[in-house]
Amino acid sequence: MSVMRTKSIEQSIGDTTEDHEFQLKRRLTALDLTLFGIGVIIGAGIFTTTGRAAQELAGPAVVISFIVGAVCCGLAALCYAELASTVPVSGSAYTFSYATLGELIAWIIGWDLFLELMLGASVVAQGWSQYFTELISHADWTLPASVAPGSSFDLMAFLLVAVLTALIAFGIKESLRVNMALVFLKLFIVLFVIIAGIGFIDKDNYSPFIPESTEAAAKTGIHRPVFDTILGLDPAAFGVMGIFTAASLVFFAYIGFDVVATTAEEAKNPQRDLPIGIIASLIICTVLYVAVSLVITGMVKYSDIDPKAALASAFTDAGKGGYATIISAGAVAGLCTVVMTLMIGATRVLFAMARDNLLPKGLAHTHDKTGTPVRLTLVIGTIVALVSSLTPIGKLEEMVNIGTLSAFALVSLAIPILRKRRPDLQRSFKVPFSPVLPIVSAVICTYLMLNLSIETWLRFLVWMALGFVIYFAYSRHHAKLGRIDSDTDPDYLKA
Ligand code: ALA
Repeated sequence: MSVMRTKSIEQSIGDTTEDHEFQLKRRLTALDLTLFGIGVIIGAGIFTTTGRAAQELAGPAVVISFIVGAVCCGLAALCYAELASTVPVSGSAYTFSYATLGELIAWIIGWDLFLELMLGASVVAQGWSQYFTELISHADWTLPASVAPGSSFDLMAFLLVAVLTALIAFGIKESLRVNMALVFLKLFIVLFVIIAGIGFIDKDNYSPFIPESTEAAAKTGIHRPVFDTILGLDPAAFGVMGIFTAASLVFFAYIGFDVVATTAEEAKNPQRDLPIGIIASLIICTVLYVAVSLVITGMVKYSDIDPKAALASAFTDAGKGGYATIISAGAVAGLCTVVMTLMIGATRVLFAMARDNLLPKGLAHTHDKTGTPVRLTLVIGTIVALVSSLTPIGKLEEMVNIGTLSAFALVSLAIPILRKRRPDLQRSFKVPFSPVLPIVSAVICTYLMLNLSIETWLRFLVWMALGFVIYFAYSRHHAKLGRIDSDTDPDYLKA
């Protein structure tokens, strides 16, 4: 049994049709997929990390950090689009890599994606709970301190995840309808910030556009970025390096377009619609992010930006408290869709892994009526509810970024490999200038990973070690692919 064994593309596609019990329904259009992408991309990132990145690391040049993040994600999105148009089955990067890079790498990618999606959902649920608590405070309501955000049990985060789990288990189309209404509301709020804010821009706030570099006092010991530690540099805030450090942070704001690829089996015409959904949602969000960050850093001097709720606070400072309430309400609705979509993505990745028997197969069972993997949804819902309600706030974001960036880097490398191994496959979308662009994509992802802290890397290594233990103790021996090989192997029958 080799850890390098690959699952053929035909086999992957065949699995989606051969057994009704493990099948998902094809109901989503290109528009559904684009809105689904926007629904998960715009969230805690733009509502909270923009302020933090501008105030602590980049100043008005946070706009450039957003563009760097967009370039990184844009290149990865092209790679995802090509793979999704070639291997249109559930599980996203996991499935693509099973067909190209071998079982062990596929397992690692699946494990990384699960980290991204499960922790991402937990982080955003915590953010939602904070905004919710802030919003009800306008009506003079407060939660008991023992269950407020930041306490030992975040009740609202727990309840949110419980309700969303029920919605997802009920059926993806139904959840998408709710999602879609909330996506429009969220788009309205973001456009509202841009249009209402333009009138309050003071040109003087843009200078200096790139503030002078200073030493980042908080980044010592295990909080130092790995890149600076390797090169023996002093960690910097602001200046050109600050722009890149901020890019590693605001990267969080783009996470989610890859989730579109996890719904491949539910798309009516995946080969055409997945590339459209992935690329369109990323382009729309990039334009909005650049505009929002220009407006916010123009409204408030970077050093005075509120690192927690920059968008709402900018309007409070401008004497528009009513606008701030509207924005907070929009954030509550907006973050809610992000949690839901990330949870759907996490379900789809583990669904694909369980269907290959890398995880217990019973998890991939779909319900006769709803067509969704109900058991798996409940398992993931329980994990996210517990993580979001029991872990401290502000500790997990970088973990989400490192998990995502590592998966993006591997997906990018899969493009030239698959082109070489299977030139015959029909690709309705192709990355231009391959292998140059995929390699550039992998390099940028790796660079952004190295900008994250030693602490994050250590946690990530522990997570990976856990993944290896599960793979070698369980998955490797149970893999469906191994059984297919063994069934035809006479030595195995004798043993
Ligand atoms: N991109 C998502 C957000 O910003 C994860 O909340």
